[in-house]
Amino acid sequence: MNIILLGPPGAGKGTQAARLVERHGMRQLSTGDMLRAAVKAETPTGLKVKAIMDAGELVSDEIVSALISDELVALPQTVGLIFDGYPRTQAQAQQLDQILAQHRRKIDRVIELAVDEDALVERITGRFTCAHCGAGYHEKFKLPRNTDPMKCDHCGSLDFNRRDDDNEESVRTRMAEYRAKTAPILPFYEARELVSRVDGMADMDEVTEEIEQVLRQYGAE
Ligand code: AP5
Ligand code: MG
Repeated sequence: MNIILLGPPGAGKGTQAARLVERHGMRQLSTGDMLRAAVKAETPTGLKVKAIMDAGELVSDEIVSALISDELVALPQTVGLIFDGYPRTQAQAQQLDQILAQHRRKIDRVIELAVDEDALVERITGRFTCAHCGAGYHEKFKLPRNTDPMKCDHCGSLDFNRRDDDNEESVRTRMAEYRAKTAPILPFYEARELVSRVDGMADMDEVTEEIEQVLRQYGAE
């Protein structure tokens, strides 16, 4: 199955995508992660997008669609895809259709993570990740098992990072961008009866279970 996880910043797209990768061997395609890797490696794209990302604004459609297109070239058709943070505009949604068609793929389901915006700032400002393996944590909702000293559950690293755009001002801009440009692509998929709405405010494990139910319901088609 090829699915899109759609939801505002902090909705849990990355958290849930990582679980699907682990459980089903699907492949997570996160444009946010790809762009952060480009920034870190100081590639020409990375240098171009850093300030835009830090401000919480959207990077150009051309840049992100090219990243997705490049990733798909190397992926066997049998691997299911999870789009995380892409598409984010009407133009990207159309570009994605074209890219998938070139690979004889299609979107099977769009899973909307419905969340209460007031909770998102807390989720995002409390977030941190393992500097070594990238596993995601939260100060209040998901601490590593070992906290003294703080140690990654997955790789044992003692180093953790916070994202440069995880501050309140950038988060507010990211939410505004979501409302103005990303939420309006839902009707594009609703018209094709592809959207399932999941309660993103529930406990992380419950959200995973709801997503699993959607996959079971539509996976056999
Ligand atoms: P991107 O990296 O996609 O960021 P985002 O959309 O703002 O979303 P986040 O990654 O912040 O949230 P998430 O939904 O993954 O939440 P998470 O699972 O981590 O994009 C960053 C920037 O890159 C953009 O602003 C833009 O500049 C650029 N960009 C990227 N893609 C682009 C595109 N297609 N077009 C143009 N520009 C693009 O969860 C958050 C926290 O909450 C975690 O700490 C987690 O532990 C916790 N949590 C998760 N679920 C729960 C739960 N159910 N209960 C309690 N806590 C929870
Ligand atoms: Mg994310």
